[in-house]
Amino acid sequence: MNQKKSPPNYHWVSTEDGSQTLFSERFQEACHSTSGARSETLLHYIHGCKIPEKSSAKEMTILEVGFGLGLGFLTTLEVLKNSPHQFHFVSLEIDEGLVRWFVEEHKTLLQNIQWTELSLKARHENGTLEVLIGDARQILPPYSSLQWDAIYQDAFSPKKNPSLWTVEWFELLKKHSAQDVLMSTYSASSSIRKSMIAAGWKIHKGEKFGPKRTSTRASLTGETDFDISEHLARSPSPALTDANMEQYGK
Ligand SMILES: C[S@@+](CC[C@H](N)C(=O)[O-])C[C@H]1O[C@@H](n2cnc3c(N)ncnc32)[C@H](O)[C@@H]1O
Repeated sequence: MNQKKSPPNYHWVSTEDGSQTLFSERFQEACHSTSGARSETLLHYIHGCKIPEKSSAKEMTILEVGFGLGLGFLTTLEVLKNSPHQFHFVSLEIDEGLVRWFVEEHKTLLQNIQWTELSLKARHENGTLEVLIGDARQILPPYSSLQWDAIYQDAFSPKKNPSLWTVEWFELLKKHSAQDVLMSTYSASSSIRKSMIAAGWKIHKGEKFGPKRTSTRASLTGETDFDISEHLARSPSPALTDANMEQYGK
C-alpha cells in the first residue's frame, strides 16, 4: 500500500515489513503492530481463521471488529482472488471518516456503492463488503441476517477499547456464529481469554508475532488448551465484563 493522503485525525506509520498502518490520534494507538501490518494481518486473521481452507469449501461470511484502514478486507480480497466461492465481508467501524476515506482511495475495487446513514454496502470482484458505521456494541445486536464463519477480533487494545473485549461482547459474537466459526485476535491477555471462556468460547494458543509471545484463537467446539486453562486458573486477572471494564481501561 502506498497511499499519501491520510484520513482526518490519523497519520501514517511505516512498519517493519514495508507496509504502512495508521495511528489514531483519538485512541492514541496504531491500527497494527509496527513489526508488520500486512504480516500481522496474514498471520492472525487470514491464517488464524483458516480463510483459504474455509473458502475453498463454501461461500463464507467474515465479521471484522474494527475496519480501520481496510487492510483486513484488502488482504482477504487478495488471498481469495482465485477462490471458487464468493465471500461476504462485514466490518464494524465507529469512525465514518475512515470508511469514506477508504472508498475514495479504493473506488476501483468496489462496485454498486451504496451509502446509508448507518452503513456502506458495495460489491467487490468476489462477493460483498458491508461496513456498519457506529459503536459496535449498538450496531451489531439488530444486525442478525448473517452467520459468521470467521471473526477477525481486531479492536484497539483492551485498555483503549474495553467494551469490545467483555464477556457480554463475546456472548454477542457467539450468538450469530456458525458452529465451526474460528475467531482470532492478536491479544493474549488473561482477562480477555477469561472473558471469551465465560462467554462459551474454547481458547487455543495462537502464533507469536513481533515482540508478543503468543496470541489467541477461539472456537465453539473442542476444548480449551490444557496449558491455557492451567495458566488462567492461576492468574488473578478477572474476566472483563461490562460492569468492571472502566477500571480496566484506567
Ligand atoms: C486496530 S484498528 C482495526 C484495523 C483494521 N482491522 C485493519 O486491518 O485496517 C481498530 C478499529 O476499531 C475502531 N473502533 C474503535 N472503537 C470502536 C467501536 N466502539 N465500535 C466500532 N469500531 C470501533 C477504530 O476506529 C479502529 O478503526
